[in-house]
Amino acid sequence: MAKIAVLGYGTVGSGVVEVIETNYASIAKRAGEEVEVKSVLDLRDFPGDPIQEKIVHDVDIIINDPEIDVVVEVMGGIEPAFTFVKKALEAGKSVCTSNKALVAAHGPELLAMAKARNLNFMFEASVGGGIPIIRPLNQSLTADEITQITGILNGTTNYILTKMSKEGSSYEDVLKEAQELGYAERNPEADVEGYDACRKIAILTSLAFGSTVNFEEVCTEGITKISTEDFKYAEKLGCVVKLLGTSKKIGDKVYAITAPFLIDATHPLYNVNDVLNGIYINGNVIGDVMFFGAGAGKLPTASAVVADVVDCVKHKGTNVMTVWTSEKMQLGDINDVERYFFVRVKGSVDKNLAEVEKAFGDIDVVEVEGIDGEFGFVTAPMTEKAFNEAAANVDMINRIRLDKTSLS
Ligand code: HSE
Repeated sequence: MAKIAVLGYGTVGSGVVEVIETNYASIAKRAGEEVEVKSVLDLRDFPGDPIQEKIVHDVDIIINDPEIDVVVEVMGGIEPAFTFVKKALEAGKSVCTSNKALVAAHGPELLAMAKARNLNFMFEASVGGGIPIIRPLNQSLTADEITQITGILNGTTNYILTKMSKEGSSYEDVLKEAQELGYAERNPEADVEGYDACRKIAILTSLAFGSTVNFEEVCTEGITKISTEDFKYAEKLGCVVKLLGTSKKIGDKVYAITAPFLIDATHPLYNVNDVLNGIYINGNVIGDVMFFGAGAGKLPTASAVVADVVDCVKHKGTNVMTVWTSEKMQLGDINDVERYFFVRVKGSVDKNLAEVEKAFGDIDVVEVEGIDGEFGFVTAPMTEKAFNEAAANVDMINRIRLDKTSLS
């Protein structure tokens, strides 16, 4: 019998307990022995709930319990999670976490600690919720040189963008719904400002290329500037707006960005809606690979955490190698990346087209019936740097990048 402890009885923590109870027999078969939750750390008490008999308020009760083999950290945030995870590894316990903030900030250090002790530090649930993506990158796509990772990596914002675009719902209402459904981070700023997706693309890029991407160096924009008008222009262009996290290898440099993009129906992520996440990967020998599924929520995320627990139990005494060193990856300068931009400017085509063409050169004008006092256009491919220089000469309302990824 393998005994585990869960740090944090929130949405994911209670999901982990539920998954282990629901699939007790099949999990035992796959792990090679029964898996049982012995202790749950939480500041709160849960009177009347059967979980109460497992609740402890002091992490050291878990750390000093020789019966506990695996610790599940689902508290979120860096501290005290980082301290507790280090203590668990030092005490000879493997750790599974869904905490992308922790993994993005301290992944290689915790992996090295686990390796030095023949333990495991696993984090499948930190990216893509229930979608297997960490294990495929670490164990399956190992024959390939990865050339591109592009993903819808945040369920909350995908839910918001889908509902706003398809149902015309208000931003505030949909965000509230996403919070009630347990998709959103404790502080929803992490979702809507793109910080969550940024950490996730930093983790995937680090794993794909083996060294550490500092998430603070990934150019990051959220969805808060996307308006009802933007959705109307998007529709006119045959596009949808998606928050993408993407990293591409161009020459010997990797360029990473998290931002809203317009994508059309030929894009592999066009139909990834609601809370679903989708991740497109291109490798130099395999070509295109797609991962798709539930990107957030109690049980999907818990499913990925418990799969890591099963792996830890199966590999007791053996470290499953993960290639991610603390050596820093020097990302390419995003200003050098060439792409198309959709732009909205004040004025009218009659009066202002000449000045816009003077600034941007060849453009394709987009007008939407009922939107007055402005017009839109799509640029020819241009670098971010050239775009910013041109944009300084016009009265810009908003701009959204276009992503032209298509299956090869
Ligand atoms: N808040 C995150 C999301 C949870 O919406 O994707 C899963 O990481």
